[in-house]
Amino acid sequence: MRKKFIAGNWKMNTTALSGELLAAAIVKGLGGDTSVQVAVCPPFPYLFRVGQAIQGSPVALGAQNCYHEKSGAFTGEVSPDMLVDAGCQYVILGHSERRHKLRESDGFINKKTHAALAAGLRVILCVGETLEEREGNKTNQVLDEQVTAGLIGITSQTVRNMVIAYEPVWAIGTGRSATAAQAQAAHAFIRNRVAALCGPPAAAELVILYGGSATPQVAEELVRQPDIDGGLIGGASLKPDDFLSIVAMAKRAMALP
Ligand code: PGA
Repeated sequence: MRKKFIAGNWKMNTTALSGELLAAAIVKGLGGDTSVQVAVCPPFPYLFRVGQAIQGSPVALGAQNCYHEKSGAFTGEVSPDMLVDAGCQYVILGHSERRHKLRESDGFINKKTHAALAAGLRVILCVGETLEEREGNKTNQVLDEQVTAGLIGITSQTVRNMVIAYEPVWAIGTGRSATAAQAQAAHAFIRNRVAALCGPPAAAELVILYGGSATPQVAEELVRQPDIDGGLIGGASLKPDDFLSIVAMAKRAMALP
């Protein structure tokens, strides 16, 4: 059985102090419970400090992006090795805010994925359709394109260090979550595509997260779907009580027959 995974994507939020307090509140609330995998992804400048706050706890550290080169003259960029050095186990790549606002292409995201995996990071690869694409009945086509391009050169072995996050763009930060049925259909489609690309055993093990206005109000039903293995949580990850209650929902979902 796949272990549920709840990751907080803090985006460009918090200060050094508020990030530390948020991380500490999550650690305290979890109380050492490891039944659900939990990660927090603060902004780069706070990785060390948040890393210290979660030290010795089951909470893992993740970053929100990286570059594909190891080092050198790339002003403003951060390499996967630096993230490992800062204590990260995860990196989010291909988030729709980067795809759309910063024009990141599938090819660029794939390069970063390979570099991050080579450095020993686990990659949370985000995919998802826009509202226009959904209304034009292109959801599966877009997911197919993004998953296929995202997994170029990824094998049945290396995909084991990846997580895919289905994040419909129209649901991110809008307060309008996908329904459990919509999300389940997209997750099942993604798992099938991964089975075709990397083999059924790897697809069966792949953790696929849902992201997009996942709050305690809607998360319970989402995490109970057979192909939804947790969430990549934005806004609600900034409120420790909300984040912890989503973790508790994931734990309850794992106990279901
Ligand atoms: P949201 O963001 O939960 O605030 O919609 C999710 C994400 O973008 O990862």
